[in-house]
This record gives sequence, C-alpha cells and structure tokens, in this order.
Amino acid sequence: MTERIRQLIDRLEQSRSLTVPEYAELVAGYSEEAAACLADKARRACSRVYGDAVFIRGLIEIGNVCRNDCLYCGIRHSNRNCARYRLSADQILSCCREGYALGFRTFVLQGGEDPSFSVEAVCALVRAIKAEFADCAVTLSLGEYPTAAYQAMFDAGADRYLLRHETADRAHYQSLHPPALSFDNRMRCLRDLKAIGFQTGCGFMVGSPGQTAQTLAKDLKFVETFRPAMCGIGPFIPHKDTPFGDQPAGSVPLTLYLLSILRLIQPNLLLPATTALGTLRSDGREQGMLAGANVVMPNLSPPDAREKYTLYNGKLHSGAESAQHLEELRQRMAAIGRRVVTDRGDAAPG
Ligand code: 5AD
Repeated sequence: MTERIRQLIDRLEQSRSLTVPEYAELVAGYSEEAAACLADKARRACSRVYGDAVFIRGLIEIGNVCRNDCLYCGIRHSNRNCARYRLSADQILSCCREGYALGFRTFVLQGGEDPSFSVEAVCALVRAIKAEFADCAVTLSLGEYPTAAYQAMFDAGADRYLLRHETADRAHYQSLHPPALSFDNRMRCLRDLKAIGFQTGCGFMVGSPGQTAQTLAKDLKFVETFRPAMCGIGPFIPHKDTPFGDQPAGSVPLTLYLLSILRLIQPNLLLPATTALGTLRSDGREQGMLAGANVVMPNLSPPDAREKYTLYNGKLHSGAESAQHLEELRQRMAAIGRRVVTDRGDAAPG
C-alpha cells in the first residue's frame, strides 16, 4: 500500500469524509494490504457501536411479478422464462409466525413492482403483521411509489424501507435501467422515505456493467451525505436471461473493501453481508462480518417461492442462507466471535 493510500485511510477514519476524487483514489488504490488495514479499522468501529451483535432479518420474497425491465435483474418484466408468483396475505403471515418462533424480530417484505398489489393491500398486510407481532419491525422493499403511498405505508406501521439507489451516477443509472425509470425519481423516493420517517436503506451492486472507481466514489459520497440507516451492497452476478447475462460477476474482495469504507464513513450504519456475497463465496457471510458488516438476512420465503425469486443465477437459499437453518448461522458467527441476537436490530444513534 502506498503512503498516500495509508493517509487517505487514516483521514477517512478520523473525519468520516473524503472528497469524491479522494474516494476514487482509495477505490482504485485497492490492495490486499489496504483491504486488511481498512477491515481492521472497520471491525473495531463496528464493535464500538454494536459490540459482537449480529442482527438478523427474516426475508420474505412476496412476489416476483415486476413491471420494470432493469437490465441486470432476473425477474425483469421481459424475462419470459421466469415463473411468476405472488404470495397471499395468509402465506406471508405464516412466514412471519414461523420466523417469530425461530427468533426473528424484523420481517423484510421484498418483491418486484407489481401494480396488482395495491397500496391498500400493502397497508393492510403491514397492519396485520404489526397487530400480531407488536415487538417486531416491518421493513418494506417494494420499489418506487408516489409520496402519498409511502406515507400511507408508514402510517400503517411500516418501520423501514429498503430501496437501493443502484448507482449515484446519473448516466450509469440510465445505462442499467429502462427509460421508464429515472435517476431523479429514484432520488425523490429516497428523500421522501427519509423525510416521512422511515429508517431508510439505500445500496448498490459492486461490479455492475459500466461501474468505475469514479461512479463508486459518487456512491460513497452519496451515502456520506444522505446518511441512510442501512446500506445494502453485494456483487453483481449475471443472470442468463438478461441483457447482462454475459457480463462478468463483481469482485468479492472489492465488495469487502467497500463494506469497510462504508463502516468508517458511518459507524452506526446497518450493513448486511448480502445473499449475493454468500452466493459467490461459501464463507461470504463471515468475510462480510470481518470486513465490517453487522446484519444478515436469511430467507423465510416458502421453498417454491425461493426457487422463483431468481434475481441472478445461482442465488443461494438453503444452508445458512435459510431461516430454518439459523443454528448453522449462529455457529458460523460464533466461530468468528460474533453473536446472533433476537432483537429488532434498529440502528444505533449516530
Ligand atoms: N446481481 C446482483 N444483485 C442484483 N440485484 C438485482 N439483480 C441483481 C444481480 N443480477 C439487486 C439489486 C436490487 C436488489 C433487490 O437485488 O441491487 O436492488
């Protein structure tokens, strides 16, 4: 690692901020030595805020019907090879019951942008979950909606909303999405969510086609200034039935490096070791934790839904990835000195 990179890392640790050109330099200056240095600082920053706790969220993939045509995503509208499904409210509530018994205190309802799933239906579902599980947090991850719809979901009791910004570079955003989706609307959604009072999550893929150290630097600056409660990052993984089907997957070491940088930018950030990371490396979860992550989101969806929610090829949904195998996850976390807790896992004040 060069002296310059060491200086940038020290300054990031102290001031939690770099300029966009400096972030780009840090990203481009990746080396194993720099990654180890960042991971060490990130782990310590995480443990000062969260101790040894690993927060878990039960992920329920409520449907894969989607009106959008994102170029990277396996459940895009034009993929005729995708077997579509939609869970009923009863099925979703049974997933929550099963999850509650296993120790989950956050349920994440994630799905494609399905126009036939009305805002009122989402609100009714949130109310039903909160009525039965008053001590649990409900996170929604259902894409873009008008301001009033987000407000209604919040008023129904939803606590958190995840909407990855995907990239903070306008031209890059447009190259990953169909013309119907706009960078400005994505940013409008994120601002609305935060203003309404949701614990808001943004995030991006690492290694998406067209990504550069420059665009990543903008992502880092965006997180620094937006100050989300959560940030989900994972490597891009190609899906064969998409326009990016022949593009290379993102790099695991770069993903880990970015997790560490994000932890230093915002020590109280909720940072998941994502399914995509676990898909590319059998010990991806552990490596994510060792780089500064503090959240895992095991899958609570019914088995046949898991098969169909294929955002990318090879997506994991069994083993430690499955909510039903929490004991395996506990053991794996214990092996790296971490403790899976039964808790809502809200962000610590920062
Ligand atoms: N590889 C990795 N992540 C993907 N996502 C969608 N498609 C892919 C892919 N091919 C991510 C997007 C989206 C989240 C739900 O999954 O970032 O926001």
